[in-house]
Amino acid sequence: MQTVYLNGQFLPEHEAKVSVFDRGFLFGDSVYEVIPFYQGVGFRMKEHLERLNHSLRAIRIKSDVDWEQVLTQLVAANGGGNLSVYLQITRGNAGRRSHAYDDTMEPTIFACCSEIKDIWQAGADDIKPIKAVVSEDLRWHRCDIKSTCLLPNILVLQQAKDEGADEALLSRDQRLTEGTACNLFLVKRGVLFTPKRSSEILGGITRQLILELADEHGIQYQELDVDYERLLSADEVWVCSSTRGIIPVIEVDGNRIGDGLKGPLWNKMFELFSDYQRQLMAGEHNK
Ligand code: PDD
Repeated sequence: MQTVYLNGQFLPEHEAKVSVFDRGFLFGDSVYEVIPFYQGVGFRMKEHLERLNHSLRAIRIKSDVDWEQVLTQLVAANGGGNLSVYLQITRGNAGRRSHAYDDTMEPTIFACCSEIKDIWQAGADDIKPIKAVVSEDLRWHRCDIKSTCLLPNILVLQQAKDEGADEALLSRDQRLTEGTACNLFLVKRGVLFTPKRSSEILGGITRQLILELADEHGIQYQELDVDYERLLSADEVWVCSSTRGIIPVIEVDGNRIGDGLKGPLWNKMFELFSDYQRQLMAGEHNK
């Protein structure tokens, strides 16, 4: 049984209760973050908290909680080590169901942990490549907000699974945006490509770090529109997220990508990412 955080208290999970009139439950009126902790240390905490503040501002929820302190304490209460922290902030409980809200509501704040593999310790051979299908992006036009309204993501992911794939890549107006819970990268002739940051995709923390590492290590990259043809003719396709790291995609809609194996640039980026994490553990990138 784990310890969770709810509205200022650290509690055993079965004691944490939220009202049926909470707007997160009734309307999905809430935002979230998922932050990996390795050996008790938050990975890219500053960037995650900046994105959280962006989401909160965008939906006009105000909170003065010291997130870093709460989350670090929560991880410690659950034994430290490698854990992924889920943090959700809802607009709160109005005591009734009403679409309109008033600005004085107290947000509901919930956080819990789940186990995470230390992917970077694991080594490239342990990473299993995946198959994807392309599906229509049914989401709203504010995908830069990390909202808990995830029904479109859930439905297309489930459809992908039913079709024997592991992930769905989303396409809006003939352009690929991202995966159901991950960002998208392609490689063509040694150059890295990823869809531009916009309100149609989530500004992924892993995506940003990949671009920083590419910059630092002389890997050419470009942020641009990716259409279906460009996707299928790529030498490599990857998806990435905080919980899964960087995963090679070797098949899309039944078409083999490149030679159907993990590509050389993926291997290089995986090593750069692993090195970055090892340095983080040694305290070099801590803030
Ligand atoms: N999701 N795009 C979407 C739609 C996502 O939901 C996520 C992450 C990402 C990758 O972002 P990051 O690198 O910051 O994790 C991109 C989390 C992991 C989730 O929903 O569980």
